[in-house]
Amino acid sequence: MIRVLVLHGPNLNFLGRREPDIYGSNTLDEINQRLQDLARQMNIELQILQSNSEGALIDALQGAADWADAVVINPGAYTHYSIAIRDCLASLRLPTVEVHLSNIYSREDFRSHSVVAPVVMGQISGFGLESYLLGLRAAAAVVNEARR
Ligand code: DQA
Repeated sequence: MIRVLVLHGPNLNFLGRREPDIYGSNTLDEINQRLQDLARQMNIELQILQSNSEGALIDALQGAADWADAVVINPGAYTHYSIAIRDCLASLRLPTVEVHLSNIYSREDFRSHSVVAPVVMGQISGFGLESYLLGLRAAAAVVNEARR
């Protein structure tokens, strides 16, 4: 059994009605349902949280430090400026996959810089809902490989 913490940052609770041309028409509940379906198939236990506040995301990361084997995180706009989330991820030493629904490199200039990217294992950006599913597969693959 692999345990994965999935974190959704600010404004992702508005998915479905938030700029659907950019972020797709799936709601966050639908995305979480797809993640749970995949997790069940792969024998992964998920803990999923969305928050609009930086501190709550950090609390969740710290709280899962001794529980989780890996993290999948879409930090939303915090991607681009939260040194606090970056420092937290760096301190955790858990394999972490950064995911984005949109391709952050094809949009406004400010989105093409991620302050968390240097402290995560890798990033998946631009595949919509599939970014999360690929992120979960990547996290599980890394944990399985380490256990071999
Ligand atoms: C996002 C991209 C960010 O630039 C933006 O602030 C978001 C969502 C994405 O999933 O594409 O809130 O992380």
